[in-house]
Amino acid sequence: MIFGASGDLTHRKLIPSLCSLHGKGRLPKDLRIVGVARGARTDAEFRDSLLEGVRQNGDMHPNPEEWQVFASRIFYAPGDVTSATGLDALQAKLGELEAPAAGKGNRLYYLALAPSLYEPAVNTLGLLNMAREHSNQSSSQSSGQNPGWRRVVVEKPFGVDLASAQELNNSIQSVFSEHQVYRIDHYLGKETVQNILVFRFANTIFEPLWNRNYIDHVQITVAETVSVSERGDFYDQAGLLRDMIQNHMLQLLSLIAMEPPSSFDADSLRDEKVKVLRAIRRIEPQDVSRHGVAGQYQGYGAERGVAAGSRTPTYAALRLHIDNWRWKDVPFYMRSGKALADKTTEIVVQFRRPPHLMFSMNRDAGGQDADLPPNTLAICVQPDEGFHIRFQAKAPDSWLQLHPVDLEFHYQDAFGDKANPDSYERLLIDALTGDASLFARNDEIEEAWTIIDPFIAGFAAAQTLPPAEYPQGSWGPQEADAFIQGDGRDWLRGCGGH
Ligand code: BG6
Repeated sequence: MIFGASGDLTHRKLIPSLCSLHGKGRLPKDLRIVGVARGARTDAEFRDSLLEGVRQNGDMHPNPEEWQVFASRIFYAPGDVTSATGLDALQAKLGELEAPAAGKGNRLYYLALAPSLYEPAVNTLGLLNMAREHSNQSSSQSSGQNPGWRRVVVEKPFGVDLASAQELNNSIQSVFSEHQVYRIDHYLGKETVQNILVFRFANTIFEPLWNRNYIDHVQITVAETVSVSERGDFYDQAGLLRDMIQNHMLQLLSLIAMEPPSSFDADSLRDEKVKVLRAIRRIEPQDVSRHGVAGQYQGYGAERGVAAGSRTPTYAALRLHIDNWRWKDVPFYMRSGKALADKTTEIVVQFRRPPHLMFSMNRDAGGQDADLPPNTLAICVQPDEGFHIRFQAKAPDSWLQLHPVDLEFHYQDAFGDKANPDSYERLLIDALTGDASLFARNDEIEEAWTIIDPFIAGFAAAQTLPPAEYPQGSWGPQEADAFIQGDGRDWLRGCGGH
């Protein structure tokens, strides 16, 4: 059931991903999709309205027959999920659709709604007794029958700070148990992000190096070329730290920094991620300028929906420290922004320099030992998914001129064009099959807010300088370069950019 069925997410992501899963034969055989929104539409009108989104956004370009088969699984019920009587038409529709399951149909409720509607929607589901997983688990398992599960998928943003996230968690948990709740962070559905786990824990060669003895620092960059364009209203309230760092970037950081879980079940994995988040050193709002830089692109104030004189950051660079044995004194730098020079998501791990150099560095070019660029490992999340390892080689026919070269693995080369489905495909199928590993747990979300809230408050405080301006199409404010250079380091591009 998709609440918010007329919205952008449904058209651009959910239906195209479901269509692709259908094409791959991965959807449960009896799955039906019911869209719920306020407007009056017939099933046929709703189906027709979805086709364009599938054509434009989906991996699968169904021919008319294929579309007919998929579309016949889709239904529509007009409704208002914020009021108990608003779901009468849906209840009637469910009565028909679930009749063959004799009241034991499983239900996934997807809240593709404005965030202000999450709580009212969950309350309505509670009031109508739609969250309860009925039937006795043990007897149904022994008889091999479907126990009729209920799950709810909640989109980001999950709150706007710790207090609102706790309130939302409390409301949801007063209706659903934690095992029924799937909080989406679409970064976790990206193939390369999942591959961080495989890379770290299915190979032995990296793990011995994965600590403070060999790693100098880590940089996580999520750069976008797009401006806030049509989303000014939302964005001006949210800002870069809420929109990208509290969720996507802290998820990336925890996968890079976590200890190996003992098994790949959802809770073991999430326990380890939470431990990392807990170990991140908290800062005080008055100290933000020592730990980061906020920026705003020139012309942001003139975007539609943005308040005059807004101090909302569209860029941020932060340095975080993880206070545990593995990462003590290894800074994790994060930078992200809108209207930047390139679209890239990459994690660069910079290793320490060799303790002693027996080569006189690039002597024929007059170089110094300190010029030797250290080894780096770049995890390229997008757009050109892969891994690059940079190391030194001797330039041919030189006295001993060292030259950095890259050992590269590209997903496309190894697995072909179709290698990377949209992250929603993976997350939808996981939610349908009950695997919560790639969804955020309540404690993860709350820990993440306790890390980010002081930065947001500090950057917004009257005594802090306003965000540093940067030209659109640049790499952010000069202050961000000065910030990392103050630590004797530079921002790195490890995935092919310069
Ligand atoms: C969303 C943010 O969560 O992620 C957007 O709200 C951002 O502002 C988007 O553009 C980036 O996602 P991706 O998958 O394009 O990196």
